[in-house]
Amino acid sequence: MPVITTIEDLRVLAKKRVPRMFYDYADSGSWTESTYRANESDFQSIKLRQRVAVNMENRSTATQMIGQPVAMPVAIAPTGLTGMQHADGEILGARAAKKFGIPFTLSTMSICSIEDVAAGTDRHPFWFQLYVMKDRDFIERLIDRAKAANCSALVLTLDLQILGQRHKDLKNGLSAPPKPTLATILNLMTKPRWGLGMLGTKRHGFGNIVGHVKGVENMGSLSEWTAKQFDPGLNWGDVEWIKKRWGGKLILKGIQDVEDAKLAVNSGADALIVSNHGGRQLDGAESSIRALPQIVDTVGNRIEVHMDGGIRSGQDVLKARALGAKGTYIGRSFLYGLGAMGEEGVTKALQIIHRELDLTMAFCGHTNIETVDKGILLPGTYPVAAP
Ligand code: GLV
Repeated sequence: MPVITTIEDLRVLAKKRVPRMFYDYADSGSWTESTYRANESDFQSIKLRQRVAVNMENRSTATQMIGQPVAMPVAIAPTGLTGMQHADGEILGARAAKKFGIPFTLSTMSICSIEDVAAGTDRHPFWFQLYVMKDRDFIERLIDRAKAANCSALVLTLDLQILGQRHKDLKNGLSAPPKPTLATILNLMTKPRWGLGMLGTKRHGFGNIVGHVKGVENMGSLSEWTAKQFDPGLNWGDVEWIKKRWGGKLILKGIQDVEDAKLAVNSGADALIVSNHGGRQLDGAESSIRALPQIVDTVGNRIEVHMDGGIRSGQDVLKARALGAKGTYIGRSFLYGLGAMGEEGVTKALQIIHRELDLTMAFCGHTNIETVDKGILLPGTYPVAAP
């Protein structure tokens, strides 16, 4: 077993252990993947200012996201088909997040259901991500189920009314559970750990949907389901009724443009997430870290600003925080840990990110995450809001 010290180590191990169609699903962007790549690489060009001879004792990365205490400004992002990276993946991810003291966000397109995750974490509050479908009755029931499961925030995704084209998913024939084609069977034969895990659970389909929507016994392909069921007509009026129906903390995910950020403020939501869906929707969109300062500048403190996209280290978390994000989300960094080693791997990913965040903060002369601001960044190397 290799010694794991970075998120990249977990990625390499996950690639070995997770069937190709699910590894590829997580680790890809749409079309040319230029936005997917920029999300990561734009973090690299931002440089930090080292400070010395500052007392580095008694450090703290603890803060709040939407008023809820978090051990570090990181939440687990909602990711589809997580229970296909590892058997019962959503339950394991939620348990690891609970132990670490950060929020776990469950996707509508999860394998384990809302109720499974609630039961698997002794009803510890988690966040639920909502996709809006044409069947409003179903959406109302989903919202009610999230309330009944003690969810403490609703994360409403606004950038996936239609699905960006992801070449690998089409070529691999992505489906959950996988269809037994010759190529898939040959690939599954090389993943015995994964297979054994899957034999030990009944959760192989979309748990929030199958059995909850009339006539849906088997959904198979995500792209077909999305095309048929997701509501391309989603608009700000829908945000209003969802907010009312939910009645709790609301986070709007998928904001990239200042005009949309202003509308998000007007909606009365508690937070927005600067996000391009991990480069999986509009290829050619700006990276999240570059889009962040302009949005922070536009909305001020009228709404809490979070971001996701490209976070592979605690240094990335610190840079996002310095540029005004009150919180960040990890999708792939979490999935690599899960695919590599289940719950232990998720905990490992969180420990890696926390340690990098804590040490880097100290090297930059701070002992408390709350005092970190743009001053830790080298001028000329980070994106700024246009005047
Ligand atoms: C949606 O959940 C996706 O695949 O990005």
